Amino acid sequence: MTMEPRRILLTVTGGIAAYKVPELVRQLQREGHEVRCAITSAAARFVAPLSLQVLTGATVRQDLFDPSEEGEIDHIRLADWADLVIVAPATANVLGRMSHGLAEDLVGAVLLATQAPILVAPAMNVNMWNHPATQANLELLHAREVNFVGPGVGELACGWEGEGRMAEPEQIVAQVRVLLGSKSLVGETFLITAGGTSEPIDAVRSITNRSSGKMGFALAEAAVSRGAKVCLVAGVTALPTPAGVERVDVESALEMRDVVLAKLGSASIVIKAAAVADFRPEVREEKKIKKESLDPQAGLTLRLVENPDILAEISASKGSRLVVGFAAESEDVVQSALRKIKKKGCDLLVANDISRADAGFNVDTNSVYLVTPDGEVEEIPLLSKREIAAQILDRVEKLRNEKPC
Ligand code: CTP
Repeated sequence: MTMEPRRILLTVTGGIAAYKVPELVRQLQREGHEVRCAITSAAARFVAPLSLQVLTGATVRQDLFDPSEEGEIDHIRLADWADLVIVAPATANVLGRMSHGLAEDLVGAVLLATQAPILVAPAMNVNMWNHPATQANLELLHAREVNFVGPGVGELACGWEGEGRMAEPEQIVAQVRVLLGSKSLVGETFLITAGGTSEPIDAVRSITNRSSGKMGFALAEAAVSRGAKVCLVAGVTALPTPAGVERVDVESALEMRDVVLAKLGSASIVIKAAAVADFRPEVREEKKIKKESLDPQAGLTLRLVENPDILAEISASKGSRLVVGFAAESEDVVQSALRKIKKKGCDLLVANDISRADAGFNVDTNSVYLVTPDGEVEEIPLLSKREIAAQILDRVEKLRNEKPC
């Protein structure tokens, strides 16, 4: 099941990072959510209320006692309407007002009145962030189970460098997924591998493949949003780490095997989405191989040796652990997958047809077959990798119910 659309009230306070709010609105809407905005008068100097009104298709509330708005959607009804309230950007001032329950404007009143979870994305100068007053306010808010995303470290609009940058819209949206997710995988610890491996030839060259890592990263994000703990072992990929995920970067299949075996003890569910190279050069030259050192007629011959099959190895002693493998097939997809699941010994195999241009390697969509050891085959039609991840996790949950820890 993908996430149900929810009602999100986005409250905006007066900081330069408010320029990112329209993009945040768009990203929340793309997830299917209904978004409304309430802003402070200071925020209105950084982002045009009209822009937010056009994007959300709803009045942007600003005044606590506006006769044209109160009665129709008073601040209590607005607070009650929301399934989640976001404060982005959250200034030092609003953190202070929240921690002391001050409700002299609409945003303050809504934050005090709402029963919905609150997600705060602070943005301010590094010295304001580090000030004992701000830190004391944060402590109070943490104790009241207010949720935070960011701030990040970097160059600040005020010219200083340090902690205080508002989290990027995609990080805020990832946190929204966690807060509004089903929590159906609380208590499970996932070990997920993703991306291709890179097998070194010499100091600069390697053998790798076209895997982007998108499917494995989408699975990691989806598992976190259902409340699971996730360790993501990432091979070659340019993707950013999904919020809430522990990431370990590796290059070769041998390194991936070492990390997987080291992390296996704490994992209750393993998903091997990585495109592991089947072979590696037998010898890794420490220095760069120079052309002058080669006979041009003979060329360069690389001897490749087989890599260990990590999936087969962990499936052989899985006990109550659930193990999910992937299969990259270019022909006879279902028959090959049925043979492969027998050989690998995992609980579920997700088979991709990599000959399709719209599925498999390096694209945002996928279409897969879910294959079980007893020969059951379910086709999942072309969907985004995020939706495919949700369907794989639905199946994993079903298997977990049949095979409890
Ligand atoms: N896999 C693995 N270790 C390897 C090779 C593959 O753990 N050395 C895992 C992959 O992560 C994937 C599954 O095995 O989950 C199937 O990978 P795939 O490349 O489809 O199959 P191979 O076993 O490599 O067989 P072939 O290339 O002959 O189809």
